[in-house]
Amino acid sequence: MTSQPASPAEEISRLREEIRKHEHLYYVLDQPEVSDAEFDRLMKGLQSLEAEHPELITASSPSQRVGGVPREGVEKAAHSVAMMSLDNAFNEEEIREFDARARERLAEEQLDYVCELKLDGLSLAVRFSNGLLSLALTRGDGTTGEIVTENAKTIRSLPLEINDAALKSAGLAGADFEVRGEVVMPLNSFQRVNSERLKADQPAYVNPRNSAAGALRTLDAKITASRNLAYFAYALHADTVPRSTHWETLETLSSLGFKVNPNRTNVSGIDGVLAFAEESFAKRDSLPYEIDGVVIKVDSLTQQRELGFTAKSPRWAIAFKPQAEQQETILEGIDVQVGRTGAVTPRALLKPVFVGGVTVSRATLHNEDEIARLELAIGDTVLIQRSGDVIPKVIRVVHRPHDRLTFGMPANCPICDTPLVREEGEVIRRCVNVSCPARLKESLQHFASRRAMNIEGMGEQLVEQLVDTTLLSGLADVYALTQEQIAGLDRMGDKSAANVIAAIESSKKTPLARVIFALGIRYVGERTAQLLADGFRGIEAMRGATRDQLEEVEEVGPRISEAIQDFFAADRNIEMLAQLAAAGVVMEMKGPPPVKRDLRLKGQTFVLTGTLANLTRDEAAGRIQALGGKVSGSVSKKTNYVVAGEKAGSKLEKATELGVPILDEAALLSLTETES
Ligand code: IVH
Repeated sequence: MTSQPASPAEEISRLREEIRKHEHLYYVLDQPEVSDAEFDRLMKGLQSLEAEHPELITASSPSQRVGGVPREGVEKAAHSVAMMSLDNAFNEEEIREFDARARERLAEEQLDYVCELKLDGLSLAVRFSNGLLSLALTRGDGTTGEIVTENAKTIRSLPLEINDAALKSAGLAGADFEVRGEVVMPLNSFQRVNSERLKADQPAYVNPRNSAAGALRTLDAKITASRNLAYFAYALHADTVPRSTHWETLETLSSLGFKVNPNRTNVSGIDGVLAFAEESFAKRDSLPYEIDGVVIKVDSLTQQRELGFTAKSPRWAIAFKPQAEQQETILEGIDVQVGRTGAVTPRALLKPVFVGGVTVSRATLHNEDEIARLELAIGDTVLIQRSGDVIPKVIRVVHRPHDRLTFGMPANCPICDTPLVREEGEVIRRCVNVSCPARLKESLQHFASRRAMNIEGMGEQLVEQLVDTTLLSGLADVYALTQEQIAGLDRMGDKSAANVIAAIESSKKTPLARVIFALGIRYVGERTAQLLADGFRGIEAMRGATRDQLEEVEEVGPRISEAIQDFFAADRNIEMLAQLAAAGVVMEMKGPPPVKRDLRLKGQTFVLTGTLANLTRDEAAGRIQALGGKVSGSVSKKTNYVVAGEKAGSKLEKATELGVPILDEAALLSLTETES
């Protein structure tokens, strides 16, 4: 028996079947059975036969995936059913709340759920009539979408035609139906597209989603075809629904030839959902495409119908997107800031990103060595971390584009242009100009702060304006300010200006120790300032002291004595001190010096707890420290006294337990009573 040679129509049909089978194996199941070359040979065979017999070309032939003529413009069409979005849950509690709400509405003890990945692409609705792909619509505004049929047809994991047997077993024979799913750009294609764009001097895409959107909405399907998009189906809309669960729907989609994401599960109860979420996030970085969460859906279609929708989203589904404490973003620039001591520190300017619950656009970079250690350059994609109220920081570079810009610390102060100094052994460069406006702002804020001169109302915003308008060019200028000058500034009225002037006036009576602290001498903190005030009893005496004399003061070592002398060596500072004195600021302690410092509490440790009626915590600590005592934060066997006020808590309990003597406010006052 001799077999008849196949007719062109038969041969075309055979090739199409063969090609469809291999497309499905390769693009949907990820299980190719033939080489790329073999596949190309089949496709070329089909194309040449179709070229000879154009009357046999059909729209669903695999050869028609690579579209012909570019479209002229974008046409729109209405969605069959509105394309809604999902409500979000950001933590476990919100997921449990979602479960509780659904159970309550359905009056069920426990619900069955399907968990899927939330693919980070764009949603696409695809309609089929008589088994043929007839229309593809983007989400658009949810009611009307853009027609992108030609482009969608280039996506190899999207079937153009579904065979009768599959339709029949899905209960869809002769029915029109719509599939919904997500178009994604796999990460390897994204990287390829971006490197090609950079070579062609085109701007790189920010992320695979934008890149996929660009590819799907372009007017030229040849471009879409070159972008290697994938389509994952997650919903089926048909009038005839012989299915009772969402899980069955996914299996049906798969049997119809659609790619359904394999990372899915069905579970009973919310704990299984949380376990799936945890697993999915753990493997997030090893997936070949990006996800932005997991999606949780009530499995029963009857229950879905019963739950229904809110105005925007289904009540039977939710997207779980745990808040990342770490996020990637782009380093858009680096600026430098000048602090009170003149320290110049680099700061990362980031493309704003939501991380740890807030939008972050700045992160500290500490110093130039840190930039070198991270091998950081502008344009890099960086991983940043933020937890609690910690200042965000750059952890590492994730991607270094070709056109990155390396950053060099400026040689001069960015504010006053004075050459910066990097001392030996130091990682920080400093602006040494004491009147640098940037330093001045910081110094003034410190000067006016509560623990220093305590000038209420003179905060960051006012200081900023006072320096920018040159009303202040040094600390002492504060005492020359008038109410009119202040009232003329932004957000200041007569009343608030009067309050600031009053606060400035009363700051003149600030005790010497706090005045010394307010000067902002390097390394001179509150306690050192107190010791210096006690030791020298006046600023003039401090100025005249030798380094040895300075170091006689408790806790003053060579580093501090040097800093103090440097401070007094600057003419500008001497001038400023004279102005402060002239304005009536306390520069000396009144009365004769104590014959010998009374250190009767030396070696004794105190712990303060609760609220005292008359003394603030600082005042109580000050009284103890002035007499040589130490104040500690926690109670131990070594504690000599616990001073307990109102609402004293666990520290008091612990003291009682350990048998530590407990003082009330009156006892503390009498213990620390001095003659002066
Ligand atoms: S179900 C009513 N399942 O996430 C909407 N959506 O706001 C039902 N998405 O733009 C959507 N992966 O395109 C569903 N496995 C998944 C998904 C998914 C990604 C997208 C969807 C939509 C957005 C939800």
